[in-house]
Amino acid sequence: MKNKSLISITDYTKEDYIKILDLAEEFEKNPNQRLLENHVIASLFFEPSTRTRLSFESAIQRLGGKIVGFSEASATSVSKGESLKDTILTVCSYSDLIIMRHPIEGSARYSSEIASIPVINAGDGSNQHPTQCLLDLYSIRKTQGTLENLNLFLVGDLKYGRTIHSLIMAMAQFNPVFNFISPPFLKIPVEYKMFLEEKGIKYYEHETFTDIISVADIMYVTRVQRERFSDPVEYEKVKHSYILKNKYLENTKDNLRILHPLPRVNEIDTDVDDNPKAYYFQQALNGVYTRMAIMSLILGLK
Ligand code: CP
Repeated sequence: MKNKSLISITDYTKEDYIKILDLAEEFEKNPNQRLLENHVIASLFFEPSTRTRLSFESAIQRLGGKIVGFSEASATSVSKGESLKDTILTVCSYSDLIIMRHPIEGSARYSSEIASIPVINAGDGSNQHPTQCLLDLYSIRKTQGTLENLNLFLVGDLKYGRTIHSLIMAMAQFNPVFNFISPPFLKIPVEYKMFLEEKGIKYYEHETFTDIISVADIMYVTRVQRERFSDPVEYEKVKHSYILKNKYLENTKDNLRILHPLPRVNEIDTDVDDNPKAYYFQQALNGVYTRMAIMSLILGLK
C-alpha cells in the first residue's frame, strides 16, 4: 500500500483490507501516536462533509500531523476559474498526501494520475467512497466477529449511493448474501449486478423490508441524496421511501446491527437511536481509527 493512491475500493486487495482493519484495531486501543509528525496532509473538500473531513482531521491531529486545505472550493482560486489540474499540481508542492472529495465522478482518479504524491478519494460524485467502505468493514467485523457469510440488507438510494457501490465490491470478497431494498427508480445499477453474478454472489431485490428483516445480520440504510437528482420532481417522489422505526426491530436477530454512513435525513426514526442494535454513531467513530490506519500505511509509517 505504500505510496499507492486509494481511489476505488478495488484498488486494494482482500489482504489489504484485513491489514487495514487489524491496524485500525491497534489504533483504537492506542489512538494518540505521533506517527505523522513532520508530515503535512492536504484536505481538499470541493463538496460538503462532516464525518469524512473531520474524522480525517481528527486522525491527523491525533497522529501529530499538520493539515492544509479547504472545506469549500468557493474560498480558493477555483472560484477564479483555476483548473483541477493546476490546483492538484500546486498542492503536491505543499503536502505529502492529498485527501479529496469532489462532486464529479472520476475526478479523484484523474488527480491521482497527475499528482506526484498519493491521493485518497474521500468521495467522487456517486461513484466511490473507499475510506467509508473500510470503516464500514471495520464496523461489520467488530459487531459480527467476522466478515464472512453474512446476510446484508442494503436499503435506500442504491443507484446514486457511492458508499453502497464501494461496500458491494468489498463485501463480495467475503461470500455474503445481498438483499437490495429500494424503490424502482433507485435500484442498484446493472454493472454491480453483473459484478456479483460473475463472482457467483447471491443477491435479491425488494421494494420493502418489513416482512424479511428477521434474517438480516446487517441493515445498511442510506439517505436519498437530493444533490444527485437533476429533476426535483423525481426526488420528491422517492424522498420518503423508507423510514426504519424501532417497532420493526422487534423480531430481528440478536446480532443485527443498523449501519448508516450518515448524514441521515429521516430514513431512520430517532426512536431507533437508543436501541442497542443502532450502531451508526459508533460507526462514525470507527472512521477515525480506520483513517489513521489508511494514512499510516500509504505513507509507509506502519
Ligand atoms: N459518511 C459521509 O461521507 O459523511 P459526510 O458526508 O458527512 O462526510
